[in-house]
Amino acid sequence: MKITCQSPVNIAVIKYWGKENVELNLPTNGSISVTLSMEHIKTITCVESNEQIKQDSLVLNGELVEIPGRMKLVIDKMRNIAIRCGNRQIKYKSESPLESPADPRHFITIKSRNTFPTAAGLASSASGYSCLVYCLSLLYHLDAYLTRTELSEFARLGSGSSCRSLFPGLVEWHLGDSSSTSVADSICDSWEDLDILVCIVKSEKKKVGSTVGMQQTVKSSALFKHRVEGMPAKLETMKRAIIAKDFETFANLTMADSNQFHAVCLDTFPPIIYLNEDSRWFIEFVHEYNRMAGETAVAYTFDAGPNPVLYMRSKYTGDVVRLLKQLVDVTKFKSIRDFNECVTIVNEL
Ligand code: PMV
Repeated sequence: MKITCQSPVNIAVIKYWGKENVELNLPTNGSISVTLSMEHIKTITCVESNEQIKQDSLVLNGELVEIPGRMKLVIDKMRNIAIRCGNRQIKYKSESPLESPADPRHFITIKSRNTFPTAAGLASSASGYSCLVYCLSLLYHLDAYLTRTELSEFARLGSGSSCRSLFPGLVEWHLGDSSSTSVADSICDSWEDLDILVCIVKSEKKKVGSTVGMQQTVKSSALFKHRVEGMPAKLETMKRAIIAKDFETFANLTMADSNQFHAVCLDTFPPIIYLNEDSRWFIEFVHEYNRMAGETAVAYTFDAGPNPVLYMRSKYTGDVVRLLKQLVDVTKFKSIRDFNECVTIVNEL
């Protein structure tokens, strides 16, 4: 019994940084992200289950690796729910292509690959865990009992930001006050004239992983406390801007939040520095471009790495791409209106 799915990455416009509960990946603030198209960047995962398999195993980008503790936790939780689901009332129709669910007591083989550099600050854990959770939900027909939002709790346990990749478009991960309420759902799945560009300036493993980085920040940064206090108001303003398709507010808040996140990283002791010379060049480029355009045409954001993601009004995309193409590897994504993509079933790995 075998299920193969693909899942996109998401890039936060209001970022998650800081854990209230490390074990459960409960955040110190809510966050909002955009789910990218799967045209260029995605994870594809195949999960197989049968009696012949003698132990759980994971093959990542063609290499047999040990299953990380967090992944074991996610798999075990989903297996336990699957075992208990026999007594529950079916709420929905399963989207699974398997006629009957796999036996959760059997071992599984997971094969997964990314179509982009793993751990280069491009949220590979987000597409990875959302893909695994979706595969397992279809393997065990859990989608017949649980909503997508309820399933997002399992993705969050694997990697916080991955709960947002289960939804297309603009997505909120609610702060919540428990494991079952700190989950994701959709704000809106289309924005007529929004384009997204991912620019790769460097593709090597990031220096400080997000879990370690967040722990250091929570312990040592005074600026972080200020950031957390301002979050509820910022999230509200961002949500209103998205619903009203107010690009100006959306873009300025996105840039300000990225800048504050990296300021908090620098305020961490010892400091965490994700941006480099190229990143700073992009920041200046965008502000200069907006000044010349006479309006906010483009916005930048940087996750835990030096690679910029640019959001722009689509009337400027041709011009921005033409200017940047001479300098960097620019991967252009369709505007959100063109896709309604999130995690889906595919035929092969
Ligand atoms: O979910 P994690 O542990 O990969 O952390 C993600 C952190 C950021 O990418 C920097 C911000 C975010 O909200 O995605």
